[in-house]
Amino acid sequence: MSYRYSVGNFVLSKDELLKTQKEEYETILCLSITKWIHLNWGDDGLKRFFRRIFLALKPGGVFILEPQAWPSYAKKKKMTETTYRNFYKIEFKPHDFKRFLLKDVGFSTCEVIGTPVNQSKGFRRQLLMFKKLNRRPADAQIAQSIELNHKDSSSQSSLESSNPPASLHCLEHKEATKWKDRQWKEDKTNL
Ligand SMILES: C[S@@+](CC[C@H](N)C(=O)[O-])C[C@H]1O[C@@H](n2cnc3c(N)ncnc32)[C@H](O)[C@@H]1O
Repeated sequence: MSYRYSVGNFVLSKDELLKTQKEEYETILCLSITKWIHLNWGDDGLKRFFRRIFLALKPGGVFILEPQAWPSYAKKKKMTETTYRNFYKIEFKPHDFKRFLLKDVGFSTCEVIGTPVNQSKGFRRQLLMFKKLNRRPADAQIAQSIELNHKDSSSQSSLESSNPPASLHCLEHKEATKWKDRQWKEDKTNL
């Protein structure tokens, strides 16, 4: 096993640079970080940060997120002029992160893996685990055409069924997104 330790700003300066990101990690942890990114780089910076994380994960990779709650932002807003300005412009709140990561960024699932026990109430934050699909889109398309070739024309599409498809991996991205959309509406879990 090899280790690499690097320090740097993970927020790219513009969206165009996202295409340069390679799939290089199996797991990315983001513990007590979102508030700082958010206050310093605003909604656009945090969204770009999340998109970069997705792109940096290998297929099948996981993203562990521990977001700070919105009420804790106010205490830190006066750190710099930038944080102060950004604080008042924030529209993308922590309770929106899960939806954004699943619907817009492309993670396939999210589960709460626990809430640490801590004497301080402020540190009892949920740990969320997002998963990136195992297959690359090209693989999924090949799998889908194989599936369609074998499908009985009278059989009901997995999207029409109320049960989740046996494997999301075998669905083309557009179909998978539709299925996730419906899953999202059914999901009553709030952050
Ligand atoms: C409260 S510390 C949390 C450290 C560690 N994750 C933990 O849970 O103990 C916040 C961390 O966010 C990192 N951070 C803030 N803005 C960042 C950015 N733009 N790019 C990369 N790291 C950033 C800081 O370097 C700092 O280590």
